[in-house]
Amino acid sequence: MTANADTVDRHQANQAGAREAGARAGFADALEPWRASEGLPTPHLAVLLDRLRLNLEQVASIAHAHAVRLRPHVKTHKCIEIARMQLECGAVGITASKPQEALVFIEAGLPSVTVAYPIVAPQAAQTLLQAAERRKCDLRFVVDSVEGAGTIALGVGQGRRAPIFLEIDVGLERCGVKPGSASLEKVVRAVRDSPKLEFRGILSHAGHAYGASGRREIAAIADDERRQLRSVVDALAAQAVDVEEVSVGSTPTVLGAESFAGVTEIRPGNYVFLDATACRLGVAKLDQVSLGIITSVVSVNERYCIIDAGSKVLSSDTGPHGTGGGGFGLCFALGPAASSWGEGRRVARLSEEHGFVEHGGEPLPIGARALVLPNHSCPAVNLADRLVVLEEGRDPQFWVVAARGRTT
Ligand SMILES: Cc1ncc(COP(=O)(O)O)c(C=O)c1O
Repeated sequence: MTANADTVDRHQANQAGAREAGARAGFADALEPWRASEGLPTPHLAVLLDRLRLNLEQVASIAHAHAVRLRPHVKTHKCIEIARMQLECGAVGITASKPQEALVFIEAGLPSVTVAYPIVAPQAAQTLLQAAERRKCDLRFVVDSVEGAGTIALGVGQGRRAPIFLEIDVGLERCGVKPGSASLEKVVRAVRDSPKLEFRGILSHAGHAYGASGRREIAAIADDERRQLRSVVDALAAQAVDVEEVSVGSTPTVLGAESFAGVTEIRPGNYVFLDATACRLGVAKLDQVSLGIITSVVSVNERYCIIDAGSKVLSSDTGPHGTGGGGFGLCFALGPAASSWGEGRRVARLSEEHGFVEHGGEPLPIGARALVLPNHSCPAVNLADRLVVLEEGRDPQFWVVAARGRTT
């Protein structure tokens, strides 16, 4: 199943409307929706529901247009409400990272979960398999070693087989086996020889696209990823091994790829919120970012406005996978001073509870509110208990970050 045509039409109409409104209103007005949580203490993580919906529809329409299944990564939001919205928007299931994160979504009744992290503890695999059995969840695993395959097999019950994806390293040099390597053949053999495992396909994450200089390089990385995966499919076909699924996924490559030929599934995560990094890479615009940190100016000196969000709120991440364009986020004045900081000021330094925003000779008054678009939405969300969800004409809603801190 792919995202449906209704979703695509709605998305195209919404996108066109939003862009037109944005162009008419100017950037200061695009900041207006962030003021809807004015009565709440700072700092807090706010989500603009309309923009979140547009982001979901944007990727659903990409999946539909290219006839690929959508299985978003929930490590970005860790929130059951958003996972359900993704399913309503055409996703076939979700991707999770750590076993305990996956467990939250299995227990919440999500129908299909891929654990895209190599599990090496038998107890973790067993816990997930038992929960999936009880909750009737289609649970899939990723492996990149013979040991990992053996670990999953240990937890599989009598008469059952766990669907397995082999992770391929397409350039991030994190997990995965290299195309054409001896270890690739060994792991595939171990999976196929096990009566408890079913070889389902291959999976990759081109996270090195975060280090690209812009859209052109991102498209080339996405192309190279597909070429590498194609070579694995062909090599396995030559040994009569059928590769049913080819799963790729990172937000830059999903938003920036020119083709998805040969791909059956995409797994973007960050696309729901986006962030200053996605804007820096040219795959998003500032008025598409749906998650921001609402802060207050607590002190001013010659160089900086000091805001009440430091590394314990924003995280110290300069960008995914150690990338970064300098600083710790982009800061915008909210309210009467909104236009004075134009396209944003850099959060140049962080203490634990303080952010140093370069004011360039235009300091905001003490107590003024400011919005920070973080470099990386995902770790910022993991530091929050809840998201303050804002929608025009409605009181803020509070959504629990249900899988917060689930790092085991
Ligand atoms: C295995 C895997 N798949 C998918 C994703 C989603 O990537 P992004 O957040 O860029 O969309 C990640 C992110 O770290 C990942 O590690």
